[in-house]
Amino acid sequence: MIPRGFIQDLLARVDVVDVIGRYVALKKAGQNYVGLCPFHGEKTPSFTVSPSKQFFHCFGCGAHGSAIGFLMDHRGLAYTEAIRELAQQVGMQVPEDSGSDREGATRVRGLTEVLERAGDYYRRKLRDAPAAIEYLKRRGLTGPTAARFAIGYAPDAWQPLREAFDTYEDPRLVEAGLVIVGDEGKRYDRFRGRVMFPIRNRRGAVIGFGARVLDGGEPKYLNSPETPVFHKGRELYGLFEAQEAIRKHQRVIVCEGYMDVIQLAQAGFEECVAALGTAITAQHVGALLRLTDQVIFAFDGDAAGRKAARRALEATLPVIADTKRASFVLLPEGEDPDSLVRSGGAAAFEDHLARAMPLSRWFVASLADGKDLEQAEDRAALIAQAKPLLASMPPAALRMQLVRELAEAARTPSADLESLFGLKPWRRLPDARRPANPPRHSAEVEDLKARILQHLVAYPDLAREFNAQIAAEFAGAQQPIDRQIVEVWRTATLVGSTSPGALVEALADSEFADIYREISGRDLLLEGDASAAREDLRAGFATLELRRVENELAELVREPLTPESRERIRELSERRVRLKETPRRAGSI
Ligand code: UTP
Ligand code: MN
Repeated sequence: MIPRGFIQDLLARVDVVDVIGRYVALKKAGQNYVGLCPFHGEKTPSFTVSPSKQFFHCFGCGAHGSAIGFLMDHRGLAYTEAIRELAQQVGMQVPEDSGSDREGATRVRGLTEVLERAGDYYRRKLRDAPAAIEYLKRRGLTGPTAARFAIGYAPDAWQPLREAFDTYEDPRLVEAGLVIVGDEGKRYDRFRGRVMFPIRNRRGAVIGFGARVLDGGEPKYLNSPETPVFHKGRELYGLFEAQEAIRKHQRVIVCEGYMDVIQLAQAGFEECVAALGTAITAQHVGALLRLTDQVIFAFDGDAAGRKAARRALEATLPVIADTKRASFVLLPEGEDPDSLVRSGGAAAFEDHLARAMPLSRWFVASLADGKDLEQAEDRAALIAQAKPLLASMPPAALRMQLVRELAEAARTPSADLESLFGLKPWRRLPDARRPANPPRHSAEVEDLKARILQHLVAYPDLAREFNAQIAAEFAGAQQPIDRQIVEVWRTATLVGSTSPGALVEALADSEFADIYREISGRDLLLEGDASAAREDLRAGFATLELRRVENELAELVREPLTPESRERIRELSERRVRLKETPRRAGSI
């Protein structure tokens, strides 16, 4: 692994305009540069590169990222290759090569080495395991399929890996999640008597395993724990194997299980991946949408499958651009892609793909599930549930279309929905808000928080100035938007002076990474500046604090008064007066 500090130093020296300028003819336009987007065919330039943000964004197709992201997406380079290339351009030495920071690098390399070796061992052991071979055959898998996915078998004993490693006590075995240290320090293998499915990263290195019992034992699947090399929210099963097919077929199919991926690949649908026993995240979907324009979710026809499809919808909305497409295949009750292909062959699955529900339809259908839209109350509930989903979307054409679909289903004019939701286009920064009346609706609070997040991403250097306010307002808050604000603030204060492009790279491992990228890209439209953002932040935090103060006051006066509460009320009232003045004072600086 390349140390983060190095990547930050590198991005501080590289200019995204130079990097992209090598591949795209750029012209200066105001603060930014524009050119024809290399990611989609266009005749008028909507591809914008910002030297101050160190970020690019295409307003046509939604492609965006830092200099690293550009090289990965445009040249198809892996992360480390992109970094090496940039380092070379500015004459920096990537530390992994020069031997410094060897510890972190060796640690990670050590883990994948260990996992790789375990994978080889399991694969060899499959040959001596007739029961496991019989099991795979019974499920219809061929030898070449087993080889393609490097399927193996973990023998049914306490310490089978002792055979594969010279030192079973090597701490890396524990760190890689292969060996468990029990009470009294006794060590034993995590995976015993199971069919092993190695999980590989995009470069093909083994980073973890999924493991299935042969009989009806519990749990059915055991997965590697999170380790320094294995993050379930980020990795997808089968992506390494599927990459080429995804590019070739210009689509990716996302299903629920290991066996679905394998069975579909064997039936000719090689462009198939699955989440790893967790829900699909925005990070997953964002990564897939960078590889291809079309994502098809194919989930099991049971309650769990419908729930997974609902989660997939939620993960897709924040990261989907107008030129991308997501659709949903809901299989018949009791079927999964594996069973479907086994009983009906590739044609049966193809049939379902052809009838996939576009996102706009699934959006309404999933929300309407279990409701009677003849009832006004149910229609109101439909609207209420749609609101946060729409709010999570970029303010582009697709959001408008979803509002229309919803309007039809809820028998409510689109315009009414839009004003009810407070959905506003992303706009230029307004002047610092004057009277900081506490927001009456949670929509206003959400709007405020979204602006705070947007400013922190766009002007990471401001994070430090608002330490106290962020800690007071957001520490311990659990909503995604709260966690995002805290995460951006932490990272921004940690890495020090930085551009949005470099900040987004520092946050590349976050479950919200794609949301931050999206915000950074959108911000290129705004042409705001740091001082306007600072004023807006000041006013915003004052408004949030005012809301807290007023809530507490309201609670205090509801109870019988005591000397302490009288004192507190006095304090809060003074605070309220001062807060009401804050924006005006801030505005006059
Ligand atoms: P399913 O229960 O749908 O299993 O779990 P499946 O894929 O159809 O499995 P087979 O066909 O019986 O072999 C879907 C996915 O959820 C995760 C696994 O990733 C599995 O592929 N899972 C399931 C677990 O992590 N643990 C479990 O105990 C069960
Ligand atoms: Mn199954």
